[in-house]
Amino acid sequence: MAILGIARMGRPILKQRAEEVIDFNNERLDGLIESMTETMANEGGIGLAAPQVFVPLRTVVFLIPEERNNGQSVAITAMINPSISPIGDEVSEGLESCLSVPGLAGIVPRWNKIRYTYQDHKGKEYERIAEGFHARVVQHECDHLDGILYPMRMSDLSTLAFTEVIQRLADEQAEHEPEGAGMVGQEGQTSNSGVIERTQSD
Ligand code: NI
Repeated sequence: MAILGIARMGRPILKQRAEEVIDFNNERLDGLIESMTETMANEGGIGLAAPQVFVPLRTVVFLIPEERNNGQSVAITAMINPSISPIGDEVSEGLESCLSVPGLAGIVPRWNKIRYTYQDHKGKEYERIAEGFHARVVQHECDHLDGILYPMRMSDLSTLAFTEVIQRLADEQAEHEPEGAGMVGQEGQTSNSGVIERTQSD
């Protein structure tokens, strides 16, 4: 296993379509998944796609912490050759960040509910239904396999901001709110529930 370097926005590999994995059940693929998992943990991330570590293959690792998904966690999952189809036409907006775009976050519209399929390291096929944050993470990570970074999905670029500033504003807002009011404002809500690819903002 190894900690891998992260490709940042501007690298050509982040703009390319990654290739399907055709050889399963081998040390090379297992090693890639292990190294990606270790790199993601080292970065405090919750999702990582192979092109982000300079490997042009359709492979993603992710996990969903329960506190980010209404108490429903999803164990660490390695997805190979994933495919997504939306269920319904509901779109929701949420704040996203990306290890390849460090320090920034922006509001991105995504399908609220999806069906996705993928293969595991042995080539076995799976199908899952996902909603909300889980669906958002899968869509963000699978976009990496098609050369798409979240800013390319944003409908309002004026929401692009430094995560440090977003956090500072949220802290200030919390300080000025009366006790018990909580983070009910839209800004507070998105800054707490939306940021992905990191368990905490930078
Ligand atoms: Ni990303």
